[in-house]
Amino acid sequence: MQNTSTFANFRFIVLFCVCLSLVIMLAACTQESELTTCDGQGKVEIAKDTSGQALADALMDQWTRDHPDRDWMTEEKQRHELKPPADNSSLLQGGQAEGNTYGRPTERDLLTWTRETEKFVLEGSRIFHSADLLKSTVSVSCDMCHPHAANTHPETYPKFQTQLGRVVLLRDMINWCIDNPVRGEHLKPDDPRMRAMEAYIMAQRTGTEMNYGKH
Ligand code: HEC
Repeated sequence: MQNTSTFANFRFIVLFCVCLSLVIMLAACTQESELTTCDGQGKVEIAKDTSGQALADALMDQWTRDHPDRDWMTEEKQRHELKPPADNSSLLQGGQAEGNTYGRPTERDLLTWTRETEKFVLEGSRIFHSADLLKSTVSVSCDMCHPHAANTHPETYPKFQTQLGRVVLLRDMINWCIDNPVRGEHLKPDDPRMRAMEAYIMAQRTGTEMNYGKH
């Protein structure tokens, strides 16, 4: 009697273990092995049980494939040292992210922010360094007088500019230089070329304290 009941218990334990292993194996097989990109269109293949670095690399590869303009970006970066945008990786470690209105950002969010911001700024760099894109009638580009955006002092705006006789924004001085030394095409304040150049000039002064009105 005693023996029969011990044997029944043993059989039950073995059966339980087999079922548990099956469930674990099934869960491992159906684990997500791809991610949908931000636009909901593409898929990023990632290895199962991937590390944070592998995930970042896979997302970076996907972003590069989805952006055929990557070649000019790489070239522009090599030609004109661009200061990198801020490192936001601390947002992944909790703390600050807890109070974030839009929830906790993912590694993919951070990568998208960085790449898109760099693209915006690099476009500004491209225009800043090109007499053609500025439509200069005297073949002059901004870098001839402001290499790496030197002496553009974006941190001092708004300020009173004697040439213009009023308080101006950075974009007004960009236009002043387009009109005068460059003799190019005057840009509307919301022209994408103006926005990009403003972004590039600001980006080059990263780390400098804001000091509006300074001469
Ligand atoms: C031929 C030389 C020359 C070229 C080319 C030139 N600039 Fe300037 N830029 C100047 C000079 C000189 C000043 C100083 C004007 C002043 O503050 O009296 C100036 C001032 C500026 C300022 C304001 C700097 C400050 O201290 O407040 C900005 C911004 C600026 N330039 C942007 C540009 C941009 C953008 C381009 C190209 C579209 C450009 N410049 C092309 C000579 C040039």
